[in-house]
Amino acid sequence: MSKQFDVLVVGGGPGGYVAAIRAAQLGFKTACCESNPYADPKGEPRLGGTCLNVGCIPSKALLHTSHLFEEAGHSFAAQGINVGTPKIDVSKMMARKSSIVDQLTGGIKGLFKKNKVTLLNGHGSFVAKTPEGWQVKVGEEVVVAQQVIVATGSTARHLPGIPVDNKVVCDNVGALDIDSVPKKLAIIGAGVIGLEMGSVWRRLGSEVTILEAMPDFLAAADQDVAKEAQKLFAKQGLKFELGVTIGEVKIAKKGVSIAYKDKSGADQKLDADRLIVSVGRVPNTDGLNAEAVGLKLNERSQIEVDDHCRTNLPGVWAVGDVVRGPMLAHKAMEEGVMVAELIAGQAGHCNFDTVPWVIYTSPEIAWVGKTEQQLKAEGVAYKAGKIPFLANGRALGMGEPSGFVKMLADANTDRILGVHIIGANASELIAEAVVAMEFAGSSEDLARICHAHPTLSEVVHEAALAVDKRPLHF
Ligand code: FAD
Ligand code: NAI
Repeated sequence: MSKQFDVLVVGGGPGGYVAAIRAAQLGFKTACCESNPYADPKGEPRLGGTCLNVGCIPSKALLHTSHLFEEAGHSFAAQGINVGTPKIDVSKMMARKSSIVDQLTGGIKGLFKKNKVTLLNGHGSFVAKTPEGWQVKVGEEVVVAQQVIVATGSTARHLPGIPVDNKVVCDNVGALDIDSVPKKLAIIGAGVIGLEMGSVWRRLGSEVTILEAMPDFLAAADQDVAKEAQKLFAKQGLKFELGVTIGEVKIAKKGVSIAYKDKSGADQKLDADRLIVSVGRVPNTDGLNAEAVGLKLNERSQIEVDDHCRTNLPGVWAVGDVVRGPMLAHKAMEEGVMVAELIAGQAGHCNFDTVPWVIYTSPEIAWVGKTEQQLKAEGVAYKAGKIPFLANGRALGMGEPSGFVKMLADANTDRILGVHIIGANASELIAEAVVAMEFAGSSEDLARICHAHPTLSEVVHEAALAVDKRPLHF
C-alpha cells in the first residue's frame, strides 16, 4: 500500500521546508520530498533549496568575507590599524562558505526530525487524483496525500547561445564557487545577483564590468536610491554599461569574449576571464506532470494561484518562487506558513504590501512599500522626509557616512506608504519600517518612538520627523 500523508510538500527550499514544519506543528502527518540537485560530498539529501545551497546564504558569506578584505585594505589604515596589504585565500573563503551551508542544511534536517516531518528523497510529480487523495510519484514510489503544497522554486534563466558551464560562464551556482579571483569579470544583468556578486569579486580585486539591457539602473528601486547607488558603486570601481543588446558570446578555454551593441547602437566587444549571467530566474514547473492533472500555469510558466496560494485544483497549493510575486526567501516562507494554517482552518495571512527588499551591497539597499515614482504614477498625494547618514554620529563613528533614509507618507492620513534606505545595515533598519507599515503606522507614530542613541536607527527616526518638516539633527 502507498504511504499516506495528510500533507505532502514538494520541494525543500524556504517555502517548502517552512510549510512542512508548520503543517507538522499543526498536527498533520507531513512529508516533504526534495529532488536534491545540490552536490553533497556524502551523497545525502540536502534541504534548504536555492536559498541555503546556491543563493542567499553562500552569497552573504562571500559578501561578508570580501567586505572585511576591503576594509582591511582600504579603511583600517585611516583608523590607525596597520596590517599591511591583505591577501585573499579564495579556497579558504569558499571552504568557510561551504561549512556554513552544510551547518544550515543539516540544521533543517534536525528541524524535520524535531517536528516529525518525513523527508522523502526524490523528485515529485503528480500522478492522479483518487478518492484517497493526490497520488504523487516521488522517485520510484507513489505516495498519497490529502493536500499537496508545491514549492519547487526556480532556477537561473539562461540566454540563448550562451552555454553555462559554471566554470568560465557561470549562473548563480558557478558564481558562488569561483576558485580564483578573475582579473576581468563580465556580468550580464545589473540586477540583484549582478550587484552582489559583482561587489564580491570587485572587492577581491577583479575588474568588473556589468552589461545591462535596461536604460535605467535598478528600475524597481526608488529612483533616488538607484541614482545614489549607481554613483557610489561606480566610485567603488564597478563599471556599468546600460541599455546594451548582447550579441555573440565566444567562449575559449581561458576566457570569454562578448559582442554587444551599446546604447547608441555602436558595436562593442568585452573580453573577460569569466562571465556571470544573472538575468532573472524561471519557475521550476517542468517535470511536475502539471498538464496531465490539469494544474494551471500562467504565461510565465508560474503556477497560477490566488492571494491565498490556492491553485485551480482542490487540495493543491503552491508557494514561493514557483508562483507570482517577488522571488525572495522570506516571501516564500510567509506563503508556506499561510498555506499550512489555511489547511488547518486558521486565518492564514500574508501581506504582500509589506514584503521588504534588500540588496546586500555596500552600502546596503533596502526598501518596503511604494517608491516615489509609483506614488506619482498612481496620483497619490504624499509627503517625503529624507535624512542622510552623514548627519548621524554612529554612522560617522563606523566610517559609514554614505546614503540616506527616505520615508513617504500619505499627505492626508500620514500613513507610511514606503521607506527607502541606502546605507550601512539597511537590511536590519528596514525591519522597523515593516513593523510600522504592517500595523498601518504613521510617520507621527515612528516620530514618537524613543530610538537608542547613538544608533543608525536614529536616521529612520529623523526621516519620520522630516516628513513633518521637523527633524532635530539635520
Ligand atoms: P527554492 O529555494 O528554489 O527551493 C525549491 C526546492 O525544490 C529546491 O531544493 C529544488 O531542488 C526542489 N525541487 C524542484 N522541483 C522538485 C520536484 N519536482 N520534486 C522535489 N523537489 C523539487 N532571497 C532573499 O530573500 N534574500 C537573499 O539574500 C537572496 N539571495 C539570493 C542569492 C542568489 C544568488 C539567488 C540565486 C537567490 C537569492 N534569493 C534571495 C532568492 C531565494 O533564494 C529564493 O527566493 C528562495 O530560495 C525561494 O524559495 P522556494 O522554496 O520557493 O524555492
Ligand atoms: P534580477 O531580476 O534581479 O535582475 C536581472 C537583470 O538582468 C535585470 O536588470 C534585467 O534588466 C537584466 N537583463 C535581463 N535580460 C538581459 C539581457 N538579455 N541582457 C542584459 N541584461 C539583461 O535577476 P537576478 O539578478 O538574476 O536575480 C534573480 C532573483 O533572485 C532576483 O530577482 C531576486 O528575486 C533573487 N535574489 C535576491 C537577492 C536578495 O534578496 N538580496 C539576492 C540575489 C537574488
